[in-house]
Amino acid sequence: MSAEHTIATDREHALTAEVLASFDDTPDPRLREVMHSLVRHLHAFAREIRLTEREWQTAIEFLTRAGHITDDRRQEFILLSDVLGLSMLTVAINEPAAPAATESTVFGPFFVDDAPEIPLGGDIARGAAGLACYVSGRVRSVAGEPIVGARIEVWEADADGFYDVQYPDGRSAGRGRLISGAEGEYRFWSVLPAPYPIPHDGPVGKLLSATARGPMRPAHLHFMVTAPEFRTLITHIFLAGDPYLDRDAVFGVKENLVVESLYHSDTPAPDGTHPQGGWASITFDLVLAPHDRT
Ligand code: BEZ
Ligand code: FE
Repeated sequence: MSAEHTIATDREHALTAEVLASFDDTPDPRLREVMHSLVRHLHAFAREIRLTEREWQTAIEFLTRAGHITDDRRQEFILLSDVLGLSMLTVAINEPAAPAATESTVFGPFFVDDAPEIPLGGDIARGAAGLACYVSGRVRSVAGEPIVGARIEVWEADADGFYDVQYPDGRSAGRGRLISGAEGEYRFWSVLPAPYPIPHDGPVGKLLSATARGPMRPAHLHFMVTAPEFRTLITHIFLAGDPYLDRDAVFGVKENLVVESLYHSDTPAPDGTHPQGGWASITFDLVLAPHDRT
């Protein structure tokens, strides 16, 4: 190594040490740990790729554009975290140690707090386009006991790949809230979900194109299940056979969350109805892990 090189490397490391030391007096020990680690990794990253000033400028412009496109309906920073796999890594790090429980996956940006309450067997589609789909199963503990009165929030895109909140007309469709019954059972009508692209008209979309990656997610139904004494479950059901299962833009697919959907052309549905054009069915149990008390 030349003398100039050694001097330059020493200067870089001295700078990192100085920045690290600037956080030494952080009163909150967790914040101190996080900032030390962030600086160590960020500086190592810049050194590893030999970050140019132009690249640094491009990164600042990217983050600025992400900020400008973000509002209360669009969250480009979460989308960035999703496509970098950071959201799913955070899910994995925090997954409870209860192997029999239903696995978690990304929350996504399309949850709405005040979805309408739907009775068991009711219709969450409420006008969303798509093939009628009957979804049913049980909410239970890892020991197999029914969980009565669990709150089940469900939301999904329509057959055109859009959530209600993506339409400009303020509609509410493809979402609802149910309460599990006396045996932990749940059932509702929805529409068969379809694959759809994550919002890709902003800087994250540009990043995906520049890196030859696609924006598609495999078809899925979102669930958030809450019950006292149990850990909140945020998950999806994915459909077997979907062409995007192995290239979800946000890395959310887990094998145990992939289910078969059945198509019925002639048989009546469990509630005696006979939807025009046939109907699909999905059966899936939602298994909750005990509350993490640490
Ligand atoms: C979703 O499934 O709704 C979603 C998740 C991550 C990014 C965009 C959409
Ligand atoms: Fe989704």
